[in-house]
Amino acid sequence: MRFAVVTIFPEIFEAFKKIGVVGQAIRDGILEILIFNLRDFTTDKHRVVDDYQYGGGPGMVMKPEPFYRFYDFYTEKFGKPHVILTSPQGDRFSNEKALELSKHENIVIFCGRYEGIDERVMDIVDEEISIGDYVLTGGELAAMVIIDATSRFIPGVVDEESLKRESFMDGILDHPVYTRPRSFRGKNVPEVLLSGDHKKIELWRRKEALKKTILKRPDLFMKKDLDEIDKKALMQLVKELMKDAQ
Ligand code: ADE
Repeated sequence: MRFAVVTIFPEIFEAFKKIGVVGQAIRDGILEILIFNLRDFTTDKHRVVDDYQYGGGPGMVMKPEPFYRFYDFYTEKFGKPHVILTSPQGDRFSNEKALELSKHENIVIFCGRYEGIDERVMDIVDEEISIGDYVLTGGELAAMVIIDATSRFIPGVVDEESLKRESFMDGILDHPVYTRPRSFRGKNVPEVLLSGDHKKIELWRRKEALKKTILKRPDLFMKKDLDEIDKKALMQLVKELMKDAQ
């Protein structure tokens, strides 16, 4: 899968491309991330990418020509991409969106800056994505968030089993995890995890995951379709709470 990012700050992506899971996926040849400097698609001596807005008002607007010049160049070279514009006005990014994007082979991300982008650029944009209800100084961090979360769904990038188990995939949050030492500053690893009884461990994990979801994200819990293990785990949780209350 290929991501091509169009930005006026290409250097922001240097470490991102080298490090961790994303860096490894690139080295393994599963993922390609190309970074393009929008200024390289200007035609004037000063490589200007922004201008005042018609009608007056504060702030600069990104000009349409460099985006269109990039788009023509890119499409000619790699075929028609799926184009994303990062913007606080976009649809909210989520794990489901990441999974959906991972099915594309060829994605371009335009990183917005200044007050916005000339509206005519929207004709070459397939979707606008926001990573949350706050305003960033530019779309570069949003592009990294989108690439990072999406890459994890490309087969071979992360272990399939951990994908299945992690937060959100099952509509609930993760259960707590422990590693050595068994006892640390008087805090012990729950006995059940040392029991070797896989059924019991699974039930405990589900119970703890549901407990965490109810406490931290009741909205997710209310949407969850409960299966048989969930029901059993909830019964155990209720029993535990009753016992604690006595
Ligand atoms: N650019 C500025 N703010 C943003 C946000 N919240 N999400 C995506 N792109 C942005």
